[in-house]
Parts: sequence; C-alpha cells; structure tokens
Amino acid sequence: MAIWNLGSINADHFYRLDHIPAPGETILSGGLTTGLGGKGANMSVAAARAGARVTHIGAVGRDGGWAVERLLEYGVDTRQIATSVDATGHAIIMLDPSGENSIIVHPGANVTIPTDQIGIALTEATPGDTLLMQNETNAQSFAADTAVKLGLRVAYAAAPFEAEATRAVLPQVDLLFLNAVEMAQLSAATGQGPADLGVQTVVVTKGAAGCTLYDQAAGWAAQDIPAPEVAVVDTTGAGDTFTGYFLAALDRGAPLLAAAELAIKASALMVTRAGTADVIPDLKEVLDWAV
Ligand code: RIB
Repeated sequence: MAIWNLGSINADHFYRLDHIPAPGETILSGGLTTGLGGKGANMSVAAARAGARVTHIGAVGRDGGWAVERLLEYGVDTRQIATSVDATGHAIIMLDPSGENSIIVHPGANVTIPTDQIGIALTEATPGDTLLMQNETNAQSFAADTAVKLGLRVAYAAAPFEAEATRAVLPQVDLLFLNAVEMAQLSAATGQGPADLGVQTVVVTKGAAGCTLYDQAAGWAAQDIPAPEVAVVDTTGAGDTFTGYFLAALDRGAPLLAAAELAIKASALMVTRAGTADVIPDLKEVLDWAV
C-alpha cells in the first residue's frame, strides 16, 4: 500500500523570542534558523521515516529545488512536485522559551498545484492506498473526489483550521485528524460531534494529554491514549509527525489503537527537538526510545 500526500512545502524560518509579540509591539529575535517544513512536507517525511511508501503531490517555486532535494533525501517520492511561477511557500515561526509557537504561513506555490497533475498522480494509486491532505494547498475537494472514485482511503488533517474548508471535504473523508480546539470549533460550526460528521474515524490530538480516538467500528466510544511526559523544546510539527506516523502504521495494516500509540510516541520524541521536517525521528529511533 502507499500514501499520496497532497501537501504544502515551506521554508520554515524559526525566530527564537523571549515572548510572542503583542499587537503593536516590536521585539528583537534571539536567533534565526531555517529548515524544511509545511504541514504537508512534515507529514510526508514522518510517514516515510515511519516506513511507508509516500508520494508527495505539491508545488514549489523556482527557488524550491533545495526543498525537493531534501524530501527526496528523507525518502519521499518527489516526482509529483510541480515547479510554479510563484515562490515556494514559507512560514514565520515565532518560538517562545517554553517551546510554544505562533505561525504565519505564506502559501505561495502551495496554492498553485495543477489539478491535472493531481489526477495524473492519483491514477498511479492502487485501491486501498491513502490520500492525505491538509488545508495549506488548493484543490482538496478535487483530490478527495478523485480518490474516492479510485477506491482510496481519504485522510484529512484539518489544519490550519477553517470550518468551511473542513466541511467541504467531510463527505469524502474516512479519517479526520484535528486537535481539541479545532474539534470544538468544528462542533460549534456544524452542531455535530465526532459521531455525526459522517466519517469513519476521528482522531483528536490533545498535546501533552495524548489523543482520543472515536471510531464507528468501536461504537464511537472515546478511547484515550496518554502521552509520555517529556521536556518540551519545540512543539512545532509534533501534530504533523503524529499524523504521518499514524497513517504509516495503518497503511501497513496496524489496528487503530496500535497506530495511535506509535504516533503518540513519535510526536512526544519530536517535541524534544528543535525544528520541523529535518528533525522528525525515524522508526528505529521511536521504537528504541525508552520513555
Ligand atoms: O505544523 C507546523 C507547520 O506549519 C510548519 O512546518 C509550517 O511550515 C506550517 O505549515
């Protein structure tokens, strides 16, 4: 089986700050580092590092060759990444000393992915493969429709959260990933809880508190999976690591609970590291990690 990820690719610029600036405030950065990121790229790298066969469907600008090279080095199939006339997407990530962040994303090339290219990529998929999407690209509904016609499982990570964008793809989605705040926002927008959304499985991540699974086959009973306690360095990309690991485990036939336990462990290890795609742990590191 394989994972086809319609996803963003960003240059992540990390600014280390004493605190996240308030409106109208100017502060000096204590350090700047740049690496590979984007929710899509992070999830592709996480799934590949977790052992899955992953094709990334996306776009970069002419300035984005380095990002494509890096995805390839991390084990992701990059043949479905287009070159756009728009610049590669980027993110400004403000990090405070506790490891919390505030992020601005400039989508750039990420919202210029040609639908032809998505269609051509997905015709190479096999029924039972997974289409993964987030909300940092164009063409999510088109990709989801195509995937359903081809017999793929559709997974959607509803981030950055927009109730309308989520609602638009829900009819095609089998597996929905979102955090507790986003779940509350979606419930407020739709008046529906996890069992009423029309998807088979809802995975709600809760940071240091772990995650909760809601699954149709389990009668929608909430199943809580705790997270190990760790010293947090940087929470950026932890949710993406969780999703990539979770789907890689499902893709090789693991049950939901086992997939969630592995994903929780991978994301807990991820928050002990500074950075995004470049520092996502591989499967051996996660399995060997004694927490
Ligand atoms: O989830 C973290 C990611 O959000 C970062 O890598 C950044 O690029 C934004 O997409």
